[in-house]
Amino acid sequence: MPIYLDNAATTPLRREALEAMLPYLTEQFGNASSLHTFGRRARAGLDEAHERVARALGATPREIVFTSGGTEANNLAVKGAAWAGKARGHRIITTAVEHHSVGHTVRYLEKFGFEIVELPVDRYGRVDPDDVEAAITPKTILVSVMLANNEVGTIQPIAEIAARVRRYKGIVLHTDAVQAAPYLAVDVNALDVDLLTVAAHKFEGPKGVGALYVRHGTNMLAQQQGGAQERYRRAGTEDVAGAVGMAAALELAVAEQAQTGARLRELREFLTSAVRTVDGVQETGHPTDRLPGLASFVAPGLHGGDLTMALDLAGLACSTGSACVSGSNEVSHVLSAMRYPDEEARGALRLSLGRTTTAAEIAEAADLVVRTLTQQRDSSARLKAQLAVALGRPVAPADASATASVVATDTAVAEASAG
Ligand SMILES: Cc1ncc(COP(=O)(O)O)c(C=O)c1O
Repeated sequence: MPIYLDNAATTPLRREALEAMLPYLTEQFGNASSLHTFGRRARAGLDEAHERVARALGATPREIVFTSGGTEANNLAVKGAAWAGKARGHRIITTAVEHHSVGHTVRYLEKFGFEIVELPVDRYGRVDPDDVEAAITPKTILVSVMLANNEVGTIQPIAEIAARVRRYKGIVLHTDAVQAAPYLAVDVNALDVDLLTVAAHKFEGPKGVGALYVRHGTNMLAQQQGGAQERYRRAGTEDVAGAVGMAAALELAVAEQAQTGARLRELREFLTSAVRTVDGVQETGHPTDRLPGLASFVAPGLHGGDLTMALDLAGLACSTGSACVSGSNEVSHVLSAMRYPDEEARGALRLSLGRTTTAAEIAEAADLVVRTLTQQRDSSARLKAQLAVALGRPVAPADASATASVVATDTAVAEASAG
């Protein structure tokens, strides 16, 4: 069985969540809007899921809207607040490092006359709360800043941002807490946000289920028209089993948070100190204000997609941390915003641990990652030297990324035949 270090992409469904869901996938299959016994039983399950998710986030049950995942919840938050605020203003403030479900949504809104301000971040991927405040004008209707980044694990100062936003009237504050929810205390009142997104599959709940917290009194227009479900904020027959599974997984994640966080921090430290020994490899993201189990690096001159392919063949599942597909030259918008040059950003690697990750797996993973990085770096240096001789000039960054691809394929083949 390969080692799984891609928990930021998704996690396995935990047994307790599956067991909580099973009755609603079998005997209690009713439509929660039906008035008969089957419907009432489904409704009771859904009501309880609202209560449990709300309790875990410090909210009230009516403030929770179940969705089909983080993407839908982010779309609902951003579009819903934008359209509801349109009569008052058109300015939306966000950052350059948001997940595409926020980043692409604001770009879509731009086509309808909304003005988008994308704030820069520092070398660690952090936005400055002063920059948020400086960007606010009387036309600002929405501020959307993620709580923790999915590529580099950096935590944003949301409570400080909220303190600045609250100095002005009528601005809706949204945070995407999809990556943060399993590992950080996510209390909507401590964070002082109006809208907050979570997704069940990041904390061992089912895929395709998410929730949006909507503070009572927040102006937000539904983005799906139809029935009266979720108090008219999200039409469509509810996924009761999904909601119940999400509630069970979230409750457990919150109860185990301190213990899981401490253990993952220790394992990540072991892993990163091993990877740091490889010449030229740099850690990305904030050194301290970061998710406990997310380790991210750049290996300049190498290709992240090819590195992950080689690691997969060697028995380790991980990712580049960006939407970049192997073989493509597209670089991460997050690393670009953190001002990594393209030739460095192309060598991105993300190893994300989860509650089920063991110390033995990390010891083996550290060895595999160090070995693969060293092999690829050495082959890349060798190829670059050969290429320089052939070209009769030093190798340029563009040539270097081409050699990285060739090297990765070599390494992958070598790893596969080594078993
Ligand atoms: C920060 C962040 N926001 C939103 C999403 C989208 O969530 P979902 O996959 O549930 O649509 C993800 C998923 O990777 C994420 O990491």
